[in-house]
Amino acid sequence: MRILTGLQPSGKLHIGNYFGAIEPAVRLQTQGEAFYFIANYHAMTTMESAEALQENTFNLALDFISCGLDPEHSVLFVQSAVPEVNELAWILSTVCPMGLLERCHSYKDKVAKGFQPQHALFAYPALMAADILLYDSDLVPVGKDQKQHLEVTRDLAGKMNDAFGEGLFKLPEALIAENTAVVPGLDGQKMSKSYGNTLPIFGEEKPLLKMVNKKILTDSTPLEDPKPVEGSVLLQLYRLFAGEAEYQAMVDAHLAGGVGYGTFKKQLFEAYWEYFRPARECREALLQDPAHITDVLDKGAARAREEAAKVLTRVRRAVGLGWH
Ligand code: TYM
Repeated sequence: MRILTGLQPSGKLHIGNYFGAIEPAVRLQTQGEAFYFIANYHAMTTMESAEALQENTFNLALDFISCGLDPEHSVLFVQSAVPEVNELAWILSTVCPMGLLERCHSYKDKVAKGFQPQHALFAYPALMAADILLYDSDLVPVGKDQKQHLEVTRDLAGKMNDAFGEGLFKLPEALIAENTAVVPGLDGQKMSKSYGNTLPIFGEEKPLLKMVNKKILTDSTPLEDPKPVEGSVLLQLYRLFAGEAEYQAMVDAHLAGGVGYGTFKKQLFEAYWEYFRPARECREALLQDPAHITDVLDKGAARAREEAAKVLTRVRRAVGLGWH
């Protein structure tokens, strides 16, 4: 089984990325052959500078490995190291109706947020479909915000199979974990870089503690009173890091009253900080040897290209682009 996912190097990784994609990706890497990549072509649609893109690409590789990606077992590569993906994106574009792309939320959301409506932003889902189909992927672990893109991918694969022969492409399945499909941000909206409501995976302890204390959404229930459990962002986030018994104890303390939000925030921060301790320590160690990261990416690219070449040869032949 081929498991594949991609993350954009568009800023610091946050716990939404972690629980939506990284944690399942790391958990699944022993279940089959894992191909994980850094979607730098995609990030170009919103990046401000070449330097930032390059730096974020390296940091994402470092962070992903620190979170448990095993480069001995899994293939980690940078999207642009396999430029063949653009050819497949073009081929898929020839069967991709405009209406399919026009319906995609991500484009509409980005434009509503003030991004320039360029072609690359519009055609983003066709490139994403190519990312997935180029490696004959079976399973794609992602957060819920990518569900529609996976549907577009299946749709395009189906259209290609109808036009050029059944079995040309595998139809991939999205893997969206129910309880972490949408990790809430500190303000209760979906956690997202563009909402400025993220809790990063890595960072300095003091500013992060301050951020949790200041930014997390709570109400003004007095200390002695019972506090609402339904819809509590603090509880939803705590649940990600705490064991079931600890989580239940915090729920009970909410219902009983007599404990202030300050105490709950402190407990949340401690659980979060402990949860990522092993990843933080691993990251510190890896930082001593940056050449190891580039080496992993180079090896990953070579392996990914090998696989991509097989699929692309098959596709070129099927659509009439090959002449041998
Ligand atoms: P990106 O970089 O925005 O996000 C990376 C992964 O994190 C998930 N995610 C979340 N999950 C739960 N709750 C949240 N609040 C949250 N925020 C982000 C995303 O769903 C995603 O799984 N288009 C992709 C990158 C991509 C890709 C691919 C993914 C390009 N090609 C091929 C899979 C397969 C994106 O922008 O992810």
